[in-house]
Amino acid sequence: MIQAPKGTYDVLPQDMERRRALANHAERILGAAGYRRIETPVFESTELFARGVGEATDIVQKEMYSFDDGGGRSLTLRPEGTAPVCRAYIEHGMHKLPPPVKLWYLSSFFRAENPQKGRYRQFWQVGAEAIGSDSPETDAEVIVLLAELLEAMGVKGTRLRLASLGQPETRGAYREELTAYLRAHEDQLSAEVRARIDLNPMRAFDASDPGTQAVMAEAPRLLDRLDPDDAVHFAEVRELLDVAGIPYELDSTLVRGLDYYTRTLFEFTSDALGAQSGVGGGGRYDRLIQQLGGQPTAGIGWAAGLERILLAAPEQPVATDVVDLLVTVADRESRPAHLAAFEIAREARRAGLAAQLELTGRSLKSALKHADRIEARYVAIVNDGEQASLKDMSSGEQHELATGAVIAAILRGSRM
Ligand code: HAM
Repeated sequence: MIQAPKGTYDVLPQDMERRRALANHAERILGAAGYRRIETPVFESTELFARGVGEATDIVQKEMYSFDDGGGRSLTLRPEGTAPVCRAYIEHGMHKLPPPVKLWYLSSFFRAENPQKGRYRQFWQVGAEAIGSDSPETDAEVIVLLAELLEAMGVKGTRLRLASLGQPETRGAYREELTAYLRAHEDQLSAEVRARIDLNPMRAFDASDPGTQAVMAEAPRLLDRLDPDDAVHFAEVRELLDVAGIPYELDSTLVRGLDYYTRTLFEFTSDALGAQSGVGGGGRYDRLIQQLGGQPTAGIGWAAGLERILLAAPEQPVATDVVDLLVTVADRESRPAHLAAFEIAREARRAGLAAQLELTGRSLKSALKHADRIEARYVAIVNDGEQASLKDMSSGEQHELATGAVIAAILRGSRM
């Protein structure tokens, strides 16, 4: 048996209702705030992600599905949506539109990660990007919109972690300061942390051994090293979130796997999820558009994993699809009856009814059983090209009428 590749899954008809609900909530919440939907290609030139997401990130180093297009160009299945949206912004001259340009997407993305619960190789994200404004109101507004979407979906146990990364130069200087601090306290650190001081000094904040933890409690924090402008911006974002009544935890060690972030950085986690607790996150990327060849343009956005939203939200009872009418024939041998039944089903759909034609040659008895199972409101039993019986499945009443009168009778309700 051929199976779906590891880390992918089928979205079956019964799974569609909750996904549709997410799309509807996103359309409503983001649409009301002026966001318009965009869809970019599933694959892009590899260079877009190398430049946009960052050569040194795990995503670019290890997780991209890249391939040669046959003409010597390297293409990559999109691992995320921000770089493609910014590419499209530049390519279509969207800087001419009144800023900020607000875009949202609900698309699938691809990362060659180790699959586990909540982590897939093909997954879906709902995302929003606001390009062309560096006001703190924009930061707070995008965070509020994600909070509203998660609330509308009933995601349980959410927490917001918030930080500011400042500018890359600030981070470079901070990294040197932290490295020097760790070197000065090397004898108190675990062997593992010591071995990684130069490679990734930030990791020391996550260490679990008491010696390292004691050292890290006194370690310099990036949030205390921000440039004055960045510190004011961050204070204003926090003030707006306070006004909006959105609680957050300041987390000076918050890291995300993408290199384009500047200033505000945030992540929503859910206690309802296991190890993969990140439901959605994002941040500012004020240098990305320029890095991709556009004019210097500020931007901020987020993306949330559809699978993780569904995992962390309660299952709602799914409404079964309404079937107004099932059309079948009394005599399976009668060609005129089949022709008339075919026409009734087609005309009924054109009149706005959910109408199904009995397609498997069931006997009348099993067709009626089937109508019960799919909860059809009416069954039209076509006797010949001229006459039909219309059965109201809730009352059990049955009436004879001309085939041409079936649809009008249903539209009038049960008054036949
Ligand atoms: P990200 O944190 O890499 O950010 O992904 C956002 C969300 O996508 C995660 O919080 C998680 O819910 C979901 N996700 C990521 N990888 C997987 C996976 N392998 N399987 C299932 N779900 C996954 C971004 O992608 C940025 N583009 C967000 C952003 C937009 N920043 C600014 N604008």
